Amino acid sequence: MSASSTPNVPVAVVTGASSGIGRATATALARRGSGVVVTYNRNPDGAHEVVREIADLGGTAVALELDIARPESFSAFRDQVGETLSEHWRTDRLTALVNNAGVGGVPLMFADTTEEQFDAFMQVNLRGPYFLTQALLPLLADGGAIVNVTSNATGAGLTAGYSAYAISKGGMATLTRYLAKELSPRGIRVNAVSPGVTRTRLGGDAFAKHPEMIPAIAEHTALGRIGEPEDVGMMIAALASEEGRWVTAQEIEVSGGYNF
Ligand SMILES: NC(=O)c1ccc[n+]([C@@H]2O[C@H](COP(=O)([O-])OP(=O)(O)OC[C@H]3O[C@@H](n4cnc5c(N)ncnc54)[C@H](OP(=O)(O)O)[C@@H]3O)[C@@H](O)[C@H]2O)c1
Repeated sequence: MSASSTPNVPVAVVTGASSGIGRATATALARRGSGVVVTYNRNPDGAHEVVREIADLGGTAVALELDIARPESFSAFRDQVGETLSEHWRTDRLTALVNNAGVGGVPLMFADTTEEQFDAFMQVNLRGPYFLTQALLPLLADGGAIVNVTSNATGAGLTAGYSAYAISKGGMATLTRYLAKELSPRGIRVNAVSPGVTRTRLGGDAFAKHPEMIPAIAEHTALGRIGEPEDVGMMIAALASEEGRWVTAQEIEVSGGYNF
C-alpha cells in the first residue's frame, strides 16, 4: 500500500483506553466498524476488558502498553503498531489517533505548585501526546483524523487549583489548531474534545471517593447531571470517523452545558 492510500478498514489508536473516556471511545469506534488499538499504562486488566467487550460487539481490538511520559519508547511503539496493523487488519495505515491518556489530580493552588508537579502534568498531558503524534504521523493515512482530549478547565470549568493541569490542556488546544493547519494538505482533520466533569477514575477515583461533590456540579450543568464516559466517547468517535469529515481545527466542549 502506498503512503497516501486509505486502508479499507478504519483502525484507530486510542491512548489511555484502559478506563473512562478512552475506554468509552474505543467501544464507540468499534460500534462504528473501526478496529481499535487500545493503550494502557498501569492497568492492563482494564485494557484487556475493553478488548473483550469489543470482541463481544463483533469487533477487533488489540491492547498495547504505552507510557506517554517516555518519548524514548515511541519509535518502538510505532513499530509495534505497524506490526499489529498488518497482523490483525492487513493494512499498514491508521485512520485515526485519539490522544486521550492524561492525568488530573486533587486541587493544587498556583502558590503551592512545585516544578516537579508542573513538569509531571506537562510530561503526560502535553509533551507526551506532542511527540507521540509526531512518531505516529508516518502511519496515519491521508484523509485520517486526530482527536485531542483537552478539558473545559481552560474555560467554562475554570476552578481555583488547576492551573498546571489547565495549562497542559490549553497547550493541546493550541497544538490542535497548528496540526489542523500543517496536516490539511494531507486531508488530515485535527480537532479537540473538551470534556466537562465526567465520572471516571481521574484524580485518584475522586467521584467514587467523594460522591457528595456530584450534586453541586450537576446544579451548574444545564442538562442537570455530570457526564458519563460514553457521553464524551461518542463525540470523540464521531469526530474521528466519517461523521466528522467536514470538521477541523475545532475544540468542542462536551459538558452538558457547564456554567452556561
Ligand atoms: N473525567 C473528567 O472529568 C475529565 C474532564 C476533562 C478532561 N478529561 C481528560 O480526559 C482524559 C481521559 O481521562 P479519564 O477522565 O477517562 O480518566 P481515567 O479513567 O483516569 O483514564 C486515564 C487514562 O489515561 C491513562 N494514563 C495515565 N497516565 C498515563 C501515562 N503516563 N501513560 C499512558 N497512559 C496513561 C490511564 O492508563 P492506566 O490506568 O492504564 O495507567 C487511563 O487509561 C484525560 O486526558 C483527562 O485529562 C477528563
